[in-house]
Amino acid sequence: MGMDEPVLQLVDVSKQYDSEGEAPFLALDGVSLKISKGELISIIGPSGSGKSTMMHILGCLDKPTSGEVYLDGKAVSKMSQDQLADARRDTIGFVFQAFNLAPTLTVFENVELPLLIRDVPVGERDRIVRRNLDAVGLTDKSHSRPSQLSGGQKQRVAIARALVNEPKILLADEPTGNLDSKSSKEIIEHITGLCRKLGITVIFVTHDPRIAEQTNRVISIMDGKIESDAKKKTVKKRDVA
Ligand SMILES: Nc1ncnc2c1ncn2[C@@H]1O[C@H](COP(=O)(O)OP(=O)(O)O)[C@@H](O)[C@H]1O
Ligand SMILES: [Mg+2]
Repeated sequence: MGMDEPVLQLVDVSKQYDSEGEAPFLALDGVSLKISKGELISIIGPSGSGKSTMMHILGCLDKPTSGEVYLDGKAVSKMSQDQLADARRDTIGFVFQAFNLAPTLTVFENVELPLLIRDVPVGERDRIVRRNLDAVGLTDKSHSRPSQLSGGQKQRVAIARALVNEPKILLADEPTGNLDSKSSKEIIEHITGLCRKLGITVIFVTHDPRIAEQTNRVISIMDGKIESDAKKKTVKKRDVA
């Protein structure tokens, strides 16, 4: 694979929802997009514009009605279910608005889960979990349950969990949607900092302009189409939340 090959690419992707008794709805309309290694991107747009639909397609959680998605240079439509599940697991980490942590597992066990699924040996698992909990400043909460944590701490657990498989891409759908402004600022700083340090591509899906300010590329969507796609060299540092 060449240096400039995108990690993720959409070619003329459309997504139509067909609900019973309703007219078909075109949520994404001919979207083409190239995303390179290490990019820090936000996808913005008003509610209903198609952001989550695009996020699900970018994350290969859903398939387009037409068009093609290339994950790491490979056409997703040509992969079997198993190949796709493996490629997704090895390439993409997800962070969601609602944290999606397992309530009965400890912080450590939540972060360990993706490694258990991959049969990583116990010693290595331990090291990876500790390193990732340390990176988000939660070593002292290892044995807590999610219910004992603040929203910001829960989201930091979710970030650690998303990163244990060393994904090339981190997709975050409204990651600060359930957080106060102080925790939001912290979470954005954690994610952008880790992205720069690890060279991971980060895609925020958000309607929060303060997140968009922190990214190098802002893709704005409206009625399922890309309205603008702007890159900038310098990113404004936010002073106050
Ligand atoms: N499963 C679905 N079935 C029918 N319509 C849907 C479905 N999911 C989303 N939509 C519609 O597609 C449009 C885009 O939705 P979505 O991608 O969730 O937007 P956003 O995340 O920007 O708010 C909305 O009008 C929504 O009602
Ligand atoms: Mg949404």
